Amino acid sequence: MARHLITSAIPYINGIKHLGNLVGSQLPADLYARYLRSRGHEVLFLCATDEHGTPAELAAAKAGKAVAEYCAEMHDVQARIADGFGLSFDHFGRSSSPQNHRLTQAMAGRLAEMGLIREVTEDQVYSVTDGRFLPDRYIEGTCPNCGFESARGDQCDNCTKQLDPTDLINPRSTISGATDLEVRTTKHLYLRQSELKGALADWIDSKKDWPILTTSIAKKWLNDGDGLQDRGITRDLDWGIPVRKGDQDWPGMEGKVFYVWFDAPIEYIACAQEWQDAGKGADWKRWWRTDKGADDVRYTQFMGKDNVPFHTLSFPATIMGTQEPWKLVDYIKSFNYLNYDGGQFSTSRGRGVFMDQALEILPSDYWRWWLLSHAPETSDAEFTWDAFQQDVNKDLADVLGNFVSRITKFCRSKFGETIPAGGTQGAAEEALIAALTQRLTAYQGHMDGIEVRKAAAELRAIWVLGNEYLQANAPWTTIKTDPDTAAMQVRLGLNLIRLYAVLSAPFIPDASKVLLDAMQTDDAAWPDDIGAALTALPTGHAFTVPDNLFRKITDDERAGWAERFAGVRT
Ligand code: 2FM
Ligand code: ZN
Repeated sequence: MARHLITSAIPYINGIKHLGNLVGSQLPADLYARYLRSRGHEVLFLCATDEHGTPAELAAAKAGKAVAEYCAEMHDVQARIADGFGLSFDHFGRSSSPQNHRLTQAMAGRLAEMGLIREVTEDQVYSVTDGRFLPDRYIEGTCPNCGFESARGDQCDNCTKQLDPTDLINPRSTISGATDLEVRTTKHLYLRQSELKGALADWIDSKKDWPILTTSIAKKWLNDGDGLQDRGITRDLDWGIPVRKGDQDWPGMEGKVFYVWFDAPIEYIACAQEWQDAGKGADWKRWWRTDKGADDVRYTQFMGKDNVPFHTLSFPATIMGTQEPWKLVDYIKSFNYLNYDGGQFSTSRGRGVFMDQALEILPSDYWRWWLLSHAPETSDAEFTWDAFQQDVNKDLADVLGNFVSRITKFCRSKFGETIPAGGTQGAAEEALIAALTQRLTAYQGHMDGIEVRKAAAELRAIWVLGNEYLQANAPWTTIKTDPDTAAMQVRLGLNLIRLYAVLSAPFIPDASKVLLDAMQTDDAAWPDDIGAALTALPTGHAFTVPDNLFRKITDDERAGWAERFAGVRT
């Protein structure tokens, strides 16, 4: 048994996430957390809302609310939807928590002590019309790197380049659209991450097993020349964590806050404190401090590719810079983008299907299965309603659902609702067990390696084996001449349902529960030995026939949804 710390990129507070966001971080993180728990490991799975920065302020203003009130409400909305998707966080925290305020200020103070912070008097874009500085997302313009016309002041969404507002070509205020912008001087703190370039390069080089997507992005920014420039970690904003040096004032920094990308990853740590303070666990340092037992923790992060530079360079620079025994990430699983029907999912433009809408139209397992089995790992992937209908109907209804329905209904009609006795296993069962054993080993290998699509394919193949067995051995025919053998086949089939519930739980936890309930067991032990696992339900054990496990998506529904979600969400 090992100890696993898992974090998903913490979603911005402004609005409900779309399915592309979900499959790029929270959902695969949940898959992995559930799998490791099933295997008997100790897991701490953390996520939170990312509440500071200009997106939060802008969204609150749009909603006509005070930003603190807006964030509290949206945190609850996101927590409820996460719950609807079965995201099994041990804690869903908030980057605006007092714990994160304290820790962020302490880390900044420590970095200053280590000589890694410098004060810079610099030029910032000031909007005369708006009467304020325009950091980050308060300003948009053309990306100097790729020419994308809606690049934001902090990052280009098209090429992922981290930007400064003064880099933008043809800049405009996102508050008022004003272009009467001028450059004024203001004082800010910079993290001297360039000092850590060598250490970061060595660290990334040592990660031979990381996905190419992760290391290629990290190396690109590391070697890009300006990828590891010292970075401003403060902003002229009201909402955020006030700039302080630990619990001391920071002279000259009054009225300023830390930059959202400085405090957001620190929330991964603070969230563990929140988890403890909420009474959900003890000894948070055991997960985060290598001097307090976190040496034997394996820490895995999940995120979309746009987040990789911050997690491979900026946050590790913060951690390393403190020279305190904080845990560094062991493995970063990153994802490409999921596109929507010929274009991009877009929060700002309201394009695609959003998490709340998805749950309105189908239970979460349908989405979990489709999204995970099409996770954008090696390249961008695309959601289309045709593919969704086709895959869900085939995998969930025709393969898994049909297997469960056939075997339970057949047993009920011929033997009653208990596991029948009689008969002995022969060559066909031996072959099935051998095939399942082989596939289980492959499935575990992919899950251990977080190869999400490959794991899904293997699980599907495991379901298919059951159907093929039923088809070839046809207990409904056997029973006419050899009722004992038919009983053995049915007993095996019912045990397979329990086994499927266990193996499928990380992907489709609700269906898994329905199956275990129908088999009237809470034995969800991960199988060591398939042959033994297929005798877990003994003869005479009662079961019920589950209601239609998965229904098919009709052509009318598909067409209706395609139309409903063709435009933009308002
Ligand atoms: O891309 C996002 O949604 C960011 N809010 C992710 C932040 S992850 C981390 F740094 F905390
Ligand atoms: Zn760009």
